[in-house]
Amino acid sequence: MRYGGWCQIAFERDLRDELTTIPIGDRRLLCVRGKDGSVGVFDAICPHRGADLGVGGRLVGDGLVRCPYHGHKVSLGGNCGAAYRVREYRSIAVEGLVFAMLGEFEDGKLPEMLEYIRTTHKIFPGFEKTIKVAPEMVIENAFDWAHFPPVHDVLKVTCGEPEVVDGVFTATTTLRVGPSMWQGTGDGERSDDRSTWVEVPLLARAYSPNLTITQVAVGGGDHPHFVIASAVPGMDGASRVRLSIAMPRNPDGSEPPRELADIILQFESMGLEQDRPVWENLDLGMSPRYTSEDANVLAYRKFCERYRLDQTDRSRPGSLRAG
Ligand code: FES
Ligand SMILES: [Fe+2]
Repeated sequence: MRYGGWCQIAFERDLRDELTTIPIGDRRLLCVRGKDGSVGVFDAICPHRGADLGVGGRLVGDGLVRCPYHGHKVSLGGNCGAAYRVREYRSIAVEGLVFAMLGEFEDGKLPEMLEYIRTTHKIFPGFEKTIKVAPEMVIENAFDWAHFPPVHDVLKVTCGEPEVVDGVFTATTTLRVGPSMWQGTGDGERSDDRSTWVEVPLLARAYSPNLTITQVAVGGGDHPHFVIASAVPGMDGASRVRLSIAMPRNPDGSEPPRELADIILQFESMGLEQDRPVWENLDLGMSPRYTSEDANVLAYRKFCERYRLDQTDRSRPGSLRAG
């Protein structure tokens, strides 16, 4: 895995057992579900001889797992008097989404942002897709404004200069979309009749090369929704893309309708399918010849370098033998 930082590693609905292993690139993460619904994230590999604790391991008391292979007790993070321990990752579980911090980076603004969204919006956990492209390319898409008209049938785009605010890569873009897009008629007709255009201002924030939260205000309205998109490498080199929607709560605090979230999720899914053939056929060996339109993407790539994972960061089995 090339870049670390915050990423969404799972939906809570995927964690059916008390121990679940989630493969992320070349590592395996162990999600431990507490009786109180809490979720902890640890390395899944037993430091004794490499068994996967999520495959046949058992919780045997507070913070201890019995390894399925030779039966040693392995401490989850702490010491607990066990001979072995596995590293704990910082993690956040919020309304069905599980995030973890990969690598030794600052928490930054993500915890605050998720708390804000949780209190003002209702999060609808969405879908997961496997796409043969590097995770950072999926996140890059939010900042690659020049691709919107040809790939997503957007009529016109304006974009601001990106900036890094409190460690978050932030850029605004306004899409002008015609009826074929927002009504989903799919006839691809590009009408010049401006009365049918709808403005969609986007405020995209990347918290790492693996995670972006985009504020979307259809029609420029005061009640934007959020699109929470994350991409992490799977074991096969393809990306696991997870996408969810947060809809603003009604003024009386009640929940917004699920149907509306489903429509937006469908729309986002369609957008990824429009990107897919381009992504899956990119020639990564060629030498790009950039234009001024690529400035935001180049700025984003510079931001990504802050999150480059040192290969030594990966905890090796046995490296955390306690005592
Ligand atoms: S691999 Fe031997 S106890 Fe875990
Ligand atoms: Fe796209």
